[in-house]
Amino acid sequence: MPEEKPKEPVLEVRNVSIAFDNNRVLDDVSFTLNNGETCVLLGPAGGGKSVLLKIINGLIPPDSGSIRVFGQEVTTMKQQELFQMRRRVGMVFQESALFDSMDVEDNVAYRLNEEGVDPAEAHKRVEEALEFVELGQAIDKFPSELSGGMRRRVSIARALITKPDLILYDSPTGGLDPITSTTIVELILKQRDESHTTSLMITHRLQDAFFLATHHWDSATKSATLIPDGGVDQNTKFLVLNEGRVVFDGSTLELTHSEDPWLQNFLS
Ligand SMILES: Nc1ncnc2c1ncn2[C@@H]1O[C@H](COP(=O)(O)OP(=O)(O)O)[C@@H](O)[C@H]1O
Ligand SMILES: [Mg+2]
Repeated sequence: MPEEKPKEPVLEVRNVSIAFDNNRVLDDVSFTLNNGETCVLLGPAGGGKSVLLKIINGLIPPDSGSIRVFGQEVTTMKQQELFQMRRRVGMVFQESALFDSMDVEDNVAYRLNEEGVDPAEAHKRVEEALEFVELGQAIDKFPSELSGGMRRRVSIARALITKPDLILYDSPTGGLDPITSTTIVELILKQRDESHTTSLMITHRLQDAFFLATHHWDSATKSATLIPDGGVDQNTKFLVLNEGRVVFDGSTLELTHSEDPWLQNFLS
């Protein structure tokens, strides 16, 4: 058998720090995300989770440290290189961040239209992306006509349409009721298990995090099913940030068995 070269991490964050005025928001943050992994980023509000995602996507420069995405250093990229990198990154923003003046089709096709993809091809891909998020019937609607859960589906379709190699989800269930939240987590689960795209997902909801860790997408029944015998998904890992520092980086079982008092309290 030919020997496989060890694959480069999709994302490598090394010693990243940032302060706003005198507020130290990230303090020496390091972690790695390998191909096919889903990392759930947890932590109390104000802990620096959203800032970390924006730094990874090159939207905010850190004060110090290194971020490598697909092996390339983000902190020194020129504008054009950042655009190239972001073509391979799908971002689902907190609160959906749709364009209110555009209908669902134009929102979802936004990146394709920017890249000058042929309109017929773009339309076909919008239909596929909306099919994936189970929102095909809403293609001509405007964001103001949609529920919160539907808006979130549109923003997921918009992020997935370019078939990204890395997906960054910022609190995809934020502001949604528990039942709608579960339907959104199921979509993320389906994406993970059908496409195995490397993903980083911020959530403040422990239920969402553990749902993702303990379920698989069953393509036969088209539903999320509990992994038998208390099993967990081996490609899903956890990162916990508190007051700008990484307080946990490891597997689901390492997290649930941690003896760290702060973590135990946070998880209880
Ligand atoms: N652009 C900014 N300018 C100043 N302070 C900011 C900025 N963005 C975030 N912060 C501060 O950074 C801290 C972490 O914010 P954030 O990353 O949004 O937390 P969360 O973990 O809830 O996503 C907060 O204290 C917030 O007020
Ligand atoms: Mg946030």
